[in-house]
Amino acid sequence: MTRNIKMKKYLVIGNPIDHSLSPKLHNYWLKKYNIDGNYEKKKLNEMDLKDIILQIKEKKIDGINVTVPFKKKVIPYLNNLSIEAEKTQSVNTVYLNNGNVIGHNTDIFGFEKAIIDTNFNLSGKKILILGAGGVVSSLIFALKKKNVKSILISNRTKEKAESLNHSFKDLTIVNWGEIPDFDMVINATSVGLGLDDRIDLDFSKVGGGKFFYDVIYTPAETSFLKKGHNLNNKTENGKKMFIYQAAAAFKVWHGIEPTINNDLIKILG
Ligand code: ATR
Repeated sequence: MTRNIKMKKYLVIGNPIDHSLSPKLHNYWLKKYNIDGNYEKKKLNEMDLKDIILQIKEKKIDGINVTVPFKKKVIPYLNNLSIEAEKTQSVNTVYLNNGNVIGHNTDIFGFEKAIIDTNFNLSGKKILILGAGGVVSSLIFALKKKNVKSILISNRTKEKAESLNHSFKDLTIVNWGEIPDFDMVINATSVGLGLDDRIDLDFSKVGGGKFFYDVIYTPAETSFLKKGHNLNNKTENGKKMFIYQAAAAFKVWHGIEPTINNDLIKILG
């Protein structure tokens, strides 16, 4: 089979994948920087992971972004992990280097940059994370770098929160439903993705002046952020984190740091 060697091929894999805005973003940048390439989304099952990674090795695919629920499940098929991917056991960017398929994690960078843009100083702060799913290890890794005072984790299934303490020491596990004192609370659950989703937590005693951050960016304002806003707290959704993680993946694949401006943010809707 002949293949156009110039046209590069990129994918985001996940399940579900319909909601992903990664193709829109990467194709916008590919065009802007005159790179002959195409970025698509592909819904996979776990049993397809091995073959798709093999296609990177065989140079049939040039790069892959990995999303829920495969960020950890893809690891056995990779040759090497970056330090960030190793520590978090979470891979969102895959590429070929000297014949080896490498797994990297740009969610950490995405979160760090997004928080810098909000002007919230993490140093010395008490951070409450809600959830213990795929993205949480990246949040913890980034927060620890910023010398936060403490990280508290609350997850509906407590054992999942507790198991994070194996890779990261000093996490405080909080029962689901209990709201401890905090400076910043992060919604890293999937509650809010559905328009009718309501997080069953009572923040009314928390008062104002805190920071409510949601990893979710569609819808732009989840019920969690609305609650935070109504109680006079600073709020931010996960859109910038999404854009910055994509920009870092773009840099890995193409060696170009794409510009991020308001036009781009608008294109994403
Ligand atoms: P995974 O758990 O497979 O990594 P994820 O989308 O990364 O998937 O994570 C989903 C997160 O949202 C989990 O922390 C989940 O809590 P459980 O571990 O108890 O499943 C949380 N979550 C999902 N639905 C929830 C709900 N209705 N109330 C509270 N937490 C919920």
